[in-house]
Amino acid sequence: MDLSVLGADAAVLAAIDQRGRHVDMLVNNAGYSIAQSFADVAWMRQRDFLMTLVVNPCGLAHRVIGGMVARGRGRIINTASLAGFAPGVAGHSLYPGAKSLMISFSQALAAEYGPAGLKVTAVCPGFTRTEFAAANGTGAVMDEAPRRLFQTPQQVVDAALKANDAGRVVVIPGWYNALAAALMRLLPMGLVRAILMQGSKKYHLDADS
Ligand SMILES: NC(=O)c1ccc[n+]([C@@H]2O[C@H](COP(=O)([O-])OP(=O)(O)OC[C@H]3O[C@@H](n4cnc5c(N)ncnc54)[C@H](OP(=O)(O)O)[C@@H]3O)[C@@H](O)[C@H]2O)c1
Repeated sequence: MDLSVLGADAAVLAAIDQRGRHVDMLVNNAGYSIAQSFADVAWMRQRDFLMTLVVNPCGLAHRVIGGMVARGRGRIINTASLAGFAPGVAGHSLYPGAKSLMISFSQALAAEYGPAGLKVTAVCPGFTRTEFAAANGTGAVMDEAPRRLFQTPQQVVDAALKANDAGRVVVIPGWYNALAAALMRLLPMGLVRAILMQGSKKYHLDADS
């Protein structure tokens, strides 16, 4: 299902319902980023981004929670990002905000529905070896980043499932990612932003790239 479409959440659940099945575990993982400046990209693309990373994931959660509560159990894993702890910089304009929303949304759901038996986790990966960079056009730049900073998708999945099993609400896979998240929370915002603005320039593409 194309999750950029309004109503995709309802269509997914209807297809599951038609098969006589229900959802015991929801993983909101679909996502990408837009590397160009905000206004250089058509609003429809920016809107599709919000639909895919925020609106439909929240809609899917909204539609499955009732059944999970009725059954007294259910698991929701939202793929956020290390970027969810970061201030905004040029390019990828909506990405940190979208991921930050998924972190605090997960915390809210865990607080509200944990007592009813639901386990909700936001997983916040750093660099992970996937098609993510190729999809947003920064693959060549990303290839220059030190390999040791990258995790495999399996490492991220293992950390997410283990944390969810244990009832942990936020998990940051990889000690260096956890350290980066801690520094972003502890250092003054202006300093973090200045460092990230410098580092992020190479991941910011021109409109015609
Ligand atoms: N890779 C990283 O370094 C990294 C770091 C932190 C967080 N994340 C997050 O991890 C999640 C997974 O990304 P990834 O790294 O695995 O990237 P990826 O390899 O590019 O996979 C992205 C997935 O999202 C799906 N998707 C994109 N737009 C969609 C849409 N409109 N409707 C339905 N599905 C859609 C893609 O489906 P198709 O293949 O059909 O297009 C693909 O399965 C994302 O939420 C991303 O923000 C990634």
